Amino acid sequence: MELKGKVVVVTGGANGIGRALCVRFAKEGARGIVVADFDEQGAQRVALETGGLAVKTDVSVESEVVRLVERAAEAFGRIDLFCSNAGIAGNAGGIEVANDDWQRIWDVNFMPHVYAARAVLPAMLARGEGYLLNTASAAGLLTSPGAAPYAVTKHAAVAFAEWLSITYGDQGLKVSCLCPQGVNTRMLEESMSTTGKMLKAGALEPDDVAEAVVVGLGEERFLILPHPEVGEYFLRKATDYDRWLRGMRRLQASLTDAG
Ligand code: NAI
Repeated sequence: MELKGKVVVVTGGANGIGRALCVRFAKEGARGIVVADFDEQGAQRVALETGGLAVKTDVSVESEVVRLVERAAEAFGRIDLFCSNAGIAGNAGGIEVANDDWQRIWDVNFMPHVYAARAVLPAMLARGEGYLLNTASAAGLLTSPGAAPYAVTKHAAVAFAEWLSITYGDQGLKVSCLCPQGVNTRMLEESMSTTGKMLKAGALEPDDVAEAVVVGLGEERFLILPHPEVGEYFLRKATDYDRWLRGMRRLQASLTDAG
């Protein structure tokens, strides 16, 4: 997909990767950019910077996603590309994480992909074209040590993106799934657990991720991997799952020792 002349919605567009996507899409000549975030001031700043429209949205509430899609269509006539990108790191741990915290991260990191697809697909399928870019994570391909809720919700995001592509790919819908490793954003700063520190070492800048996205969308590739090594690790996992798990246990132990 060429971005020139397109109408794009980006959730989580006020900061980090979402902001970098909005800025880059504007440079590529997008006709309309809708910056959706529950950080209203941040969304307005990015809208000002990109000549776009800010829409305060909590993506975990379906009616707000529906309203976002309506506002975008009212302002620009149609949506060509919907980037479902907002997400949170959630709590570290697994079985000790409270049910409410599991539910919260599920509501923010996974359900909004369903709400977005449900809201935009009728018009896209009627036109026979449309594009969804869903931000998951390398943790959605390779369970990262540390936070089970994050890895689980990101695996679900990858599975849903696959399902959308399988189900609607022959009806004109394009789907890409963005799976970065560490990216220097507020999320990474705030999750300076041992895993966060490990990811910080090889972290990319949000602009690097936006570059990978523009290339990936241009090639209409399903999996967009700003860190190419993630593809290598994914291949190793598929080739010998048990060996991969042993390696991850060693990594987990070294992170625990590093404290
Ligand atoms: P960030 O914290 O800089 O930006 C996330 C944005 O999402 C913020 O503007 C925040 O206000 C917004 N947001 C959070 N919950 C929301 C909600 N319920 N409704 C509307 N907006 C909401 O984080 P970053 O790093 O830019 O994250 C973007 C996406 O990239 C997330 O899905 C994250 O999981 C993913 N990701 C990030 C990585 C990293 O190392 N930073 C690595 C892999 C994936």
